[in-house]
Formats: sequence, structure tokens, C-alpha cells
Amino acid sequence: MSTSPQGARPRVVLGVAGGIAAYKAALLLRELTETGHDVRVVPTASSERFVGRATWEALSGNPVTTDVWDDVPEVPHVRIGRHADLVVVAPATADLLARAAHGLADDLLTNVLLTATCPVLLVPAMHTEMWLNAAVQDNVALLRRRGVTVLDPASGRLTGADSGPGRLPEPADIAAACRRLLAGGARGRDLAGRRVVVSAGGTREPLDPVRFLGNRSSGRQGVALAAAAAARGAAVTLVAAHLEVPVPAAVEAVHVGTALELRAAVRAAAEGADVVVMAAAVADFRPATRSDAKIKKGDDPARDPVVLLERNPDVLAELVADRTGRAPLLVGFAAETGDEDGDVLEHGRAKLARKGCDLLVLNEVGERRGFAEPVNAVTLLGADGTEREVPEASKDVVADAVWDAVVPMLTP
Ligand code: CTP
Repeated sequence: MSTSPQGARPRVVLGVAGGIAAYKAALLLRELTETGHDVRVVPTASSERFVGRATWEALSGNPVTTDVWDDVPEVPHVRIGRHADLVVVAPATADLLARAAHGLADDLLTNVLLTATCPVLLVPAMHTEMWLNAAVQDNVALLRRRGVTVLDPASGRLTGADSGPGRLPEPADIAAACRRLLAGGARGRDLAGRRVVVSAGGTREPLDPVRFLGNRSSGRQGVALAAAAAARGAAVTLVAAHLEVPVPAAVEAVHVGTALELRAAVRAAAEGADVVVMAAAVADFRPATRSDAKIKKGDDPARDPVVLLERNPDVLAELVADRTGRAPLLVGFAAETGDEDGDVLEHGRAKLARKGCDLLVLNEVGERRGFAEPVNAVTLLGADGTEREVPEASKDVVADAVWDAVVPMLTP
């Protein structure tokens, strides 16, 4: 692979397939060029029915060709793919996904996809029925298994009166996914072909239809872990409990409310996964009863309600206990404060032993550290006795440090 020299503008190939959402690719192109990327647009022939070559040439400042017979002495079908730092196809139609999955090479874009050694991002857009069709879903699964990042389409209004999953995600979201992949490229795609599950956020345990017992987790660290894993090539399922930050475009999200819902979602996603990271703050207790109607104050303070709590299952401990042959690697989190029984590290070591997971990400909570902060400082405790300190850094940097520790622990 020949990538951009240090300091040069990252080279992005923007493939555009023949769907109505091709017009949104013009906005993506604009965003990428304005943020310092050198973009070469490779449309398919049918996409030119939606947006013409002149638009791409004017916006990118680069020549545009669609088939391998243009400009033959330059051997563009090999050169363009080889020299790219990232190939993004938006929109990717059902036809383009099928051709990419099966290695066809009948136009310039599919040739570029076969010669590219850099990260590849496909952004599907199509009608809901087409997206949900088993053939399309199988092609997407096959591409993801090979390490291609395929975004899930957004839900909403489609071309006609219909609405549902199938919309092209917003150009700003696609550009963010591009930046993440380009950043991850520096580290390599060392999680390509891996399936990763990350739980993030905090569960809420309802008392009545309007009240709940919750916690202060924002989900930032879990979301950073999910985004970093996707940038490093993993297929990521994010089990999301009340996040304060958006779900990154490159991951599949399953939204949950309570600890019991989170447990069911994590257990389902963990089937066949390589790693499960339990970054979520899971409530240890839930109200023993949940009132169907809003609890009223009443006139007599002596009859004020008393909340009885019931223990929730420990999701991480259950995963450890259920471990069989090809079980996923298990990563736990522990937010601790020191007390008279021991300091943060002592509590962390004890929790690692108690939980039995493979790696524990220990962080001290308090002051400017921990919940809702953009920065974090952690110690990574391995089941093999290794201890690695990650000094205060952004949650994105901490996320990469966690994956740096996980990758060598994975079975080849
Ligand atoms: N966890 C879990 N299920 C629970 C509680 C916690 O899977 N019901 C997971 C968390 O996601 C985290 C790890 O266990 O990865 C440690 O969570 P923590 O709340 O620190 O552990 P507890 O065992 O509840 O210990 P403590 O008594 O300190 O709260």
C-alpha cells in the first residue's frame, strides 16, 4: 500500500453508486474537501443519471472517470485503489453491495474496491424492503466479516411516501466515520474480522411510569470504545442504555432501558462474539415492585411509601460463569473511590478476582475524573497479573489503550 506521506492531505476515494441519494454525496464531498482531504470521485455509470460528472469534477478539483477504459496508460483501476488512504462508497446500492461482496470487477469503482488495501467504508441507501432483503443482508454480513465497515442506513423518509430504514446517514455523520477510519488506519485494522460487543451508559429501573432509579453514567467511554473498535475494523454491537452522546454511525446499536433488558441484549449479542466489554453502569438493584400508576403523595406523611429493592443479576459475572470453549474475551469496568478498606488499586484487584474477567478497566471516580467528563485516567488490570497505567487523556485515547491491551489477548 502506498499511503499519503506524513503531513500530506489524506487521499480519499469517494465512490458514488446509482441511487437518488447520490445528490447527498455532493455534500459529503464538500465536507471532506473543506476539512483537508484530497478526494477523487469514482461514480458508477448509472449514478451519472442522478448527478453528472461536471459536479464531481468542479467540487473535487480532480478528474472523474467511471470505467477502466478511460485513461488506459495511467492504469487507473489499480493506481487509484492502491494510492488511497480510504475508500468510501456513498450511496452504496444493493447492486453495488452485491458486486463488492462477490468480487466483481465490471467498472472502475469495483476495480478500485478490489485493489484497495486501505480501510473501506460502504454507506448503503435503498428502500426498506431492499435493505431488509435476505440477499442484501447476507452480502452486508459477508463484507463485514471481511473487515469492510458497512454503516447501517438511517431511518426516516425515503424517496417516495414511504419511510423506514434505508436513508443515507447525514453527510456529517459519514464524514465523522471517514475521519475515524483514517485515524484508526494509523494503528492498523487489528480488529478486522472480529465481532465486538460493548455495553455503555446507565440503566434505569422504573418505580412508576414517570420515576426511576438511575445513575450518572453518560456512556461517553463506552461509545468511544465502540467507535475505536469500529475504526480498527471490528463489527461492533453497542448495547446502549440512556446515552448522553450520539451512537457512532459505524456501529450497530441495540437500545435498552433496564438492567434486565441490558442483560438479554448483551447475552444475545455475545453469541459468537470475540470480545464483550461491559462499560455500562448496570444497576445492582431494582425496585421490588413497579407501580403501574404514578405514586401519589397523599395527605398522611406516616403513609409515605418505602422503596424495597431487589437484586439485579450481575451480567458480567454470569458471562464469566457461562464460559465454554470459544467464549468471548471479557472486559469489565470498575469505578472506585478509595476508603478505609483500601485504596482504588486494592479495590480494583479485589474486583478483578471476584468478577473473574480477563481484563478490568479501573478508574478512580471523583473530582474531574469519571462520569460525563471528556477525559479519563485508568489502570488496566489483566487476569495474568499485568497492570498498565493510562495517564489522563481523552476518552478516545483511553479507548485505544484498552484495545491495545485486548488485541494481543485474542486467539488468532
Ligand atoms: N456489572 C454487571 N452487572 C451488574 C453490575 C455490574 O455486569 N448488575 C458489570 C459492570 O458493567 C462493570 C463491572 O460489572 O463492568 C463492575 O461493576 P461495578 O458496579 O463496579 O461492580 P459491582 O460488582 O456492582 O461492585 P460494587 O459493589 O463495587 O458496586
